[in-house]
Amino acid sequence: MRAVVLTGTGGPEQLSVQEMPEPAAVDGAAIVDVRACGINFADVLIRLGRYPQMPELPAVLGSEIAGDLDGQRVMGFVRSEGGGYAERVAVDRRWLLPLPANASFAEGAAFPMAFLTAWIPLTQLLKVAFGARVLVTAAAGAVGTAAIQLVKVLNGRPVAAVGSEEKFELTRSLGAVEAVTYDGIGELEPVDAVFDLVGGDVFATSLNLVKPMGTAVAVGYAGGLWQDVSPTWLVGRNIGVHGFYLGRLIGRNPDLVEQAARDVLRFWEGGVVRPIVGAEFPLEQAGEAHRLIEERRSTGKVVLIP
Ligand SMILES: NC(=O)c1ccc[n+]([C@@H]2O[C@H](COP(=O)([O-])OP(=O)(O)OC[C@H]3O[C@@H](n4cnc5c(N)ncnc54)[C@H](OP(=O)(O)O)[C@@H]3O)[C@@H](O)[C@H]2O)c1
Repeated sequence: MRAVVLTGTGGPEQLSVQEMPEPAAVDGAAIVDVRACGINFADVLIRLGRYPQMPELPAVLGSEIAGDLDGQRVMGFVRSEGGGYAERVAVDRRWLLPLPANASFAEGAAFPMAFLTAWIPLTQLLKVAFGARVLVTAAAGAVGTAAIQLVKVLNGRPVAAVGSEEKFELTRSLGAVEAVTYDGIGELEPVDAVFDLVGGDVFATSLNLVKPMGTAVAVGYAGGLWQDVSPTWLVGRNIGVHGFYLGRLIGRNPDLVEQAARDVLRFWEGGVVRPIVGAEFPLEQAGEAHRLIEERRSTGKVVLIP
């Protein structure tokens, strides 16, 4: 079968389509015919050699897919070793979900990571309350567009922060009540909560905006690693900071993640939210797809189509 292999760390040219052995159905795994595979920012970090848990290379990346399993339309997380950028992949049956009736495979591949990464911290860490103002950073991206929609589901008021003004319209169309670029965060009215995907200076500036008894969750560091936050400062400000990492939670508390997946899927099935697919590329153009994300030109989820 054909798969995109990451040969070594470096530029997008490190990704190339090669003929690979068929995946093995180890431990009762399902072999899914992949119709679409979501690209995550973590894949870009792995390619650049900047991810904390680097796989052994060469490797086939790709941790979420949608496809066909014996005539059923499914989506889900692939096994921890990756392998989604391919025509077929082994998936633990536990992490397969049914694709909603009118959904495309590309939308299915855009759903699991983005919506769970947003839903679990919004509900269980930030506990978004009625009317809460929630700042979402990298708000036009895959996780960001999910977070804006889910803040609305929780009757909160999402405020979007993005890298460039061209991204304002998408965030507003999904329900953002305000949109700013990162250098405008300091001018915003205080917020009840921060859902941060950027890290670095953007996280530090966003924390200054949190009201007393408010909370921030650090989820991503697309823009740089976090600066230390002292409990002394948190006590003085009456605010809290959480961290969230879905990959480890799947390993440590799979029941919680499974329940959250069922909960959040219902909103899509009911037409209340929808995954945003910003671009689709064939396997041969995986490098181009990575470049689009790395250069901050993508919106929503970028998807590979075998
Ligand atoms: N903790 C977890 O469990 C978990 C799970 C999934 C994803 N994540 C993290 O969440 C973040 C968003 O992931 P995603 O897959 O949805 O990606 P994405 O938001 O679709 O793409 C990354 C976005 O980050 C923003 N960004 C800010 N500074 C950047 C920089 N220096 N270089 C590149 N991009 C920069 C860009 O948007 P602007 O131009 O608008 O700033 C870019 O579009 C990533 O940091 C990812 O690693 C964490």
